[in-house]
Amino acid sequence: MGRLKDKAIVITGAAMGLGYAAALEAAKNGAKLSLVDYNGESLEKAKAVIQEQYPDTKIITLVADVSDEAAVKKYVDETVKAFGTIDGFYNNAGIEGRQAPLIEYDLEVFKKVVDINLMGVYYGLRYVIPVMQQQGYGRIVNVASVGGIRGVMNQTPYVATKHAVAGITKNASLEYGRYGILTNAIAPGAILTPMVAEAFKQVNPADPKKAEAEYAQANPTKRLGLPEEVGKLVVFLLSDDCSYVNGQTIAIDGGQSNSYGNV
Ligand SMILES: NC(=O)c1ccc[n+]([C@@H]2O[C@H](COP(=O)([O-])OP(=O)(O)OC[C@H]3O[C@@H](n4cnc5c(N)ncnc54)[C@H](O)[C@@H]3O)[C@@H](O)[C@H]2O)c1
Repeated sequence: MGRLKDKAIVITGAAMGLGYAAALEAAKNGAKLSLVDYNGESLEKAKAVIQEQYPDTKIITLVADVSDEAAVKKYVDETVKAFGTIDGFYNNAGIEGRQAPLIEYDLEVFKKVVDINLMGVYYGLRYVIPVMQQQGYGRIVNVASVGGIRGVMNQTPYVATKHAVAGITKNASLEYGRYGILTNAIAPGAILTPMVAEAFKQVNPADPKKAEAEYAQANPTKRLGLPEEVGKLVVFLLSDDCSYVNGQTIAIDGGQSNSYGNV
């Protein structure tokens, strides 16, 4: 049963955080999974937990760095070899980079953020879309961020690349909607994943929990989001129930990005 029954779904950045949570939710909804990450050890751990909870799930794991074009082509080819189709693509892998003012930003880190968050997302689309085009069907969810619709202090490359993801999403929706391919993006606010926990450590190394509590005060719901809440939205966007939403960047942030001041 489930929204993704027998659909072949590729998830990048699947070893941890939002990718892992979506993989669990997709397994719960009957999907076959192609899990991609550059951290092979964590990827195998993630697979083991998913398999234990949902023993009937077909899962392949592929170690790949999404910023390496050849590796992206390979994970797409391997998935088609294993499952025959790619029905859904959660183009999720991304990094935050370090936090620093714009003019002081380390150039190597800047380029790395661009390579992973922008080129990695683009390579994924470049190789997955032709498969979906042939099928005449596909659902794609790119991962932007609230930093893809707003500025965020000291995170210039992150904000630049996430705005780019929202832009690429619009173009993919225009160019490939006619082939039955719907492309959307999500814009999560602060969701409690390892990446966000690391950011709070940078804000207040002595007391990261305090930084987290202070941050939550600015949210209308007075809390951070949970990875499984994002997983549910992603599963909807990857399913047939998503039939006329195309080219949108959907915020999932408790409403925080609507605010112009304190709440
Ligand atoms: N957590 C949040 O609050 C939040 C908010 C907005 C957007 N996002 C976005 O969601 C996505 C996932 O973030 P997360 O919080 O789950 O991060 P995370 O660091 O917890 O997990 C990211 C996963 O992606 C993998 N990964 C990173 N770079 C990779 C690469 N080049 N190739 C292959 N795998 C790679 C990591 O190994 C890890 O398993 C990112 O694109 C991030 O920008 C997260």
